[in-house]
Amino acid sequence: MTTETDPPRVALVTGAANGIGRATVDILVQQGFRVVAVDSCAGSGTERGEGVDYALATPDQLLSLESEYPGLVHARIVDVRDARALAAAGKFAVDEFGRLDAAVAAAAVIVGGYPVWETPESHLRTLLDVDVVGVWNTASAAVPLMLTGPDPQGCRFVAVASAAGTRGLFHLAGYTVAKHAVVGLVRGLAADLIGTGVTAVAVSPGSTDTDMLRATAGLYGLDQINEFSSSQLLRRLLRPEEIAATIAFCCSKEGAVLNGSIVDASGGFTA
Ligand SMILES: NC(=O)c1ccc[n+]([C@@H]2O[C@H](COP(=O)([O-])OP(=O)(O)OC[C@H]3O[C@@H](n4cnc5c(N)ncnc54)[C@H](O)[C@@H]3O)[C@@H](O)[C@H]2O)c1
Repeated sequence: MTTETDPPRVALVTGAANGIGRATVDILVQQGFRVVAVDSCAGSGTERGEGVDYALATPDQLLSLESEYPGLVHARIVDVRDARALAAAGKFAVDEFGRLDAAVAAAAVIVGGYPVWETPESHLRTLLDVDVVGVWNTASAAVPLMLTGPDPQGCRFVAVASAAGTRGLFHLAGYTVAKHAVVGLVRGLAADLIGTGVTAVAVSPGSTDTDMLRATAGLYGLDQINEFSSSQLLRRLLRPEEIAATIAFCCSKEGAVLNGSIVDASGGFTA
């Protein structure tokens, strides 16, 4: 439980310019957090990675968070593959806001559309570099600051995995490999953090209305993202705000019970 006299909690969020990451920044700010918002803002540039064929966020999208939440959110253009830049963003959070209580690793890309045997190795490497090493780098940047901060008992590391973290998805084997690795990373991290008070958890969304889902529809040759509704018991797409609300609970002090857990936030995934 956080009281009004407690100092504001502070979070680092990656993939913060768009989709689920952005919705997470919104809800954390509403809950009183200060946030350092990180995104590569690669747009349509080649630095998105081999095989990424849709536009990522732009600098304007990321920087708009600073104007929307003056003094409460600071934006940093950082690629999660760059461990040193991420460490600097974590240090910036502590220098600016005095502490780091939560880190949300939401940045990722989706690449796919082929069976394993036709998938270029470079596409798998993009997924491993961004979606796995990027989460590893985020944990490596954030956890030491949490362990040496004022309240390790209240500190949370939250990785955004996927339904693909616990099952195989058609023509998305590389993404499935990457998200299974994120689940393994969270379990290993939680084991390493034994007795420290800092916890680690993965949140696995189902089909959520974001640019990544539109890109996934493109990989499957679907005209409408709504066609993904049929693979969820809710029979509708999830909204980024709904996933963000689950992530925000995981970031809370009360979220400590979800340690080493894989939280299914899929609305009932069936396919
Ligand atoms: N949308 C879904 O249906 C769905 C389902 C399951 C899991 N997820 C997961 O949710 C998370 C958020 O996805 P989303 O749907 O909001 O996607 P999105 O494409 O809307 O947002 C992803 C953000 O990550 C940023 N990003 C990409 N590569 C980066 C890098 N190398 N460094 C820093 N930032 C980078 C992008 O610029 C973008 O702002 C991802 O981990 C994704 O795998 C999404």
